[in-house]
Amino acid sequence: MDGNGRWAQQRGLSRLKGHEQGAESVRAVLRAVRQAGVRYLTLYAFSTENWIRPKDEVEGLMNLLSIFIDRHGKELLENKIRLRVMGQFDRLPRTVQKKLAQLMEKSAENYEYTLILALSYGSRLEIADAAKAIARKTARGELDPETVTEETVANHLYLPDVPDPELMIRTSGELRLSNFLLWQLSYAELYVTDVFWPDFREKEFFQALEVFGRRGRRYGGVVTK
Ligand code: FPP
Repeated sequence: MDGNGRWAQQRGLSRLKGHEQGAESVRAVLRAVRQAGVRYLTLYAFSTENWIRPKDEVEGLMNLLSIFIDRHGKELLENKIRLRVMGQFDRLPRTVQKKLAQLMEKSAENYEYTLILALSYGSRLEIADAAKAIARKTARGELDPETVTEETVANHLYLPDVPDPELMIRTSGELRLSNFLLWQLSYAELYVTDVFWPDFREKEFFQALEVFGRRGRRYGGVVTK
C-alpha cells in the first residue's frame, strides 16, 4: 500500500494523515473485492523493515490498525470477511495483538472472503522460518530430507492453506517486490500503477482487474487464450 507518505507530502500534511486516508482505501478496496467476488486479499500493511521508521510513525500506524478494528470489525463480520494475519505477531503491541486475535477468532467460521494482513512481515524471514521448521522435523526423524519437495516448503509457510495470489498490485509506481510473498508470487501477474495508495479506490481496483483479465497466463506452457 505504497505512497501514503508522498500523498500527504504533496498536500502539506503529516505522513500519518496519508496513512489515515490509506485506511479509507482499505475499506474501498474491501468493498470492491466483495463486489468482484475476489476471495482472498492480502495487504502489506507493515514490513519487518518498517520498524526502523520514526517511533511516532510506527505508533501512529499501530494505533490506526487498532482504530480500524474498533470501527470496522463488526462490518467485516457482517460482510463475511475472515481476518487472518501473517508475520511476527508477537512483535506487535499487546493491545493490537489482542484486538486482532479477537477478530480472527470471531471471523474464523462462516466466512466467504479472507482479508490477510501482512504485519511485521518479511518474505525471506517466512522462507527461513519454513526451512527451520523442516530442518527440525528432519532432525527429529519425522521427515526424510530426500522427500522434501516444493510442496513441502509451501506447506511450511505461514498460511499454507491460502492459494497463491494471481495478481499483485503495486501502487505509487514502485517497481520492486520489497520482500513480499516472494515464494507465493512466482506465477502472479504484476500490475503497477502510479496512483498513490490513498487515491486507490474502487475504480482503480476494477481497472487493475480488467487489465489482469486481458493477460494470457501460461505458467510456462503455451498461450491458451
Ligand atoms: C507504505 O507507504 C505504507 C505503509 C507502511 C503503511 C500502510 C498502512 C495503512 C494504509 C494503514 C491502515 C492499514 C490497515 C490495514 C487498516 P509509505 O509510508 O512508504 O509511503 P511513501 O512511500 O510515499 O513514503
